[in-house]
Amino acid sequence: MLNAEGLTKTFGGVTALDQVDFDLRPGEIHALLGENGAGKSTLINLISGTYPRSAGTLAVDGHAVEHLTPQLARTLGIAAVFQEFSLVPELNVVQNLFLGRELRQGPFLRSRAMRQEADALLNRFGFRVPLDAAVADLSRAQRQMVEIAKALRGRSRVVIFDEPTASLTDGEAEPLFAAIAQLKADGVAIIYVSHRMSEIRSISDRVTVLRGGKRIGTVETADVSDAELIEMMVGRPVDELYSSLTLSPGDERLSVRGLSTRSGRVRDVSMTARAGEVVGLAGLVGCGRSELCRAIFGLEEVAHGTIRYHGESLHAPTPHHMLRQGLCYFPADRGAEGLALNRPARENVTMAGLNLPALATGPVLKVWTERRAIAEPLEKLGLRPMAPENNAAAFSGGNQQKLMLARGLLKDFDVYLFDEPTVGIDVNAKRDVYALIKQLAEGGATVILSTSELPELTHLATRIYVMHEGRVMAELGPDGITEKSILSHYFGEVAHA
Ligand SMILES: Nc1ncnc2c1ncn2[C@@H]1O[C@H](COP(=O)(O)OP(=O)(O)OP(=O)(O)O)[C@@H](O)[C@H]1O
Ligand SMILES: [Mg+2]
Repeated sequence: MLNAEGLTKTFGGVTALDQVDFDLRPGEIHALLGENGAGKSTLINLISGTYPRSAGTLAVDGHAVEHLTPQLARTLGIAAVFQEFSLVPELNVVQNLFLGRELRQGPFLRSRAMRQEADALLNRFGFRVPLDAAVADLSRAQRQMVEIAKALRGRSRVVIFDEPTASLTDGEAEPLFAAIAQLKADGVAIIYVSHRMSEIRSISDRVTVLRGGKRIGTVETADVSDAELIEMMVGRPVDELYSSLTLSPGDERLSVRGLSTRSGRVRDVSMTARAGEVVGLAGLVGCGRSELCRAIFGLEEVAHGTIRYHGESLHAPTPHHMLRQGLCYFPADRGAEGLALNRPARENVTMAGLNLPALATGPVLKVWTERRAIAEPLEKLGLRPMAPENNAAAFSGGNQQKLMLARGLLKDFDVYLFDEPTVGIDVNAKRDVYALIKQLAEGGATVILSTSELPELTHLATRIYVMHEGRVMAELGPDGITEKSILSHYFGEVAHA
């Protein structure tokens, strides 16, 4: 259905994609696997016409395509759902679905027809989204549904998904997988990018592995083991992801008493976190973990309850105050709360309003001190390429995540609040993040780790709170932490001693 040979893309002096061959069969799910910066997004940007290629050929149904533009790609039935969302938050669902391709009769918008078509489009995949809601008011999962529906307007023969589950987890991802299964059954070919090995294993027919812009190989998924795929991806066998933590928790540093948010997503939560410990927050997406983190940092309105920190009882914390007091928060969603893409990486690392006196003087001195200050954190996280003056947009998705994480390392904080810190990053970067958490906690900091990855909780956390529908269902101590014990509280069963 689609056949590419020798696809190459250079950005300035950088070869992001180097003579890659790639083909697609009708009705197949073809996964792309590779480390951060391997060239996955670049490959699909060439196939969807987002960037012109520097060299190589592309044929659709045996017909050579010379100058592929996004419009031509659309005409050929190639649709892409991108890593970073493309919706306009202020517009409603229907407006977003038809943005730039409105249905008109003469000068008039055909509002009724657009509404009907939007409804049918969403229904086709069983997506339940209110048509009149502004996109800003939708959940992440719903925003993605709109994104998918938008890409699939018209007839699609090739659909590309770039890390569609990066900011979703199991429950939320279900409608997505159902939609993918339906597309496959309709004979649509799918390109699927993910860092989650379990997904690649369960949905893909073939896998193409990229490393350093080159194609390492294309294999039938059923014929290879995870270990073989990882070795193709990184070029050598990978060491253990986790090393054991030696923690000796000290005094209580932060506590939450009877906390409920105005949104109702956090209900009567009490928890404590001590110096030198990693406290895990477990539960399905939507269980209130993220909102709890946001409330502690002052991003959610608190209705009842208090947060005790550094001897203060806070009813309405603000990010400014919390940062000053020594609490740093890393959001899960780098797109929405994260980065200024058209500014240098350096500024993105230092811009977090961190009150660093040394960084606040005169413009020349500022750049100079900034450069020195960020060198070590970026080194620690293994930013690739190590080019802090490049705009954030020029980094791969996983490396953008590292820029956000680097912010918290500029200053010594005593509480680190991580929400899904390893979303979208490759195995090596994951290991760096785990090493960082270990180093912080062993150095006496308090780490609060909210994650949907069970192995992260069992390997890193000393205590775990499992949440369900806004409430804490169970607190598990060091002896009670297993994947099974965590899961047993996911669906709201009351804790039994
Ligand atoms: N617009 C751009 N300008 C300059 N360099 C770029 C640009 N886009 C990508 N690159 C570079 O091309 C290389 C491949 O990036 P790409 O985004 O394709 O990686 P990826 O495999 O999708 O990684 P990730 O898993 O982190 O999303 C990287 O070195 C990246 O820095
Ligand atoms: Mg990418």
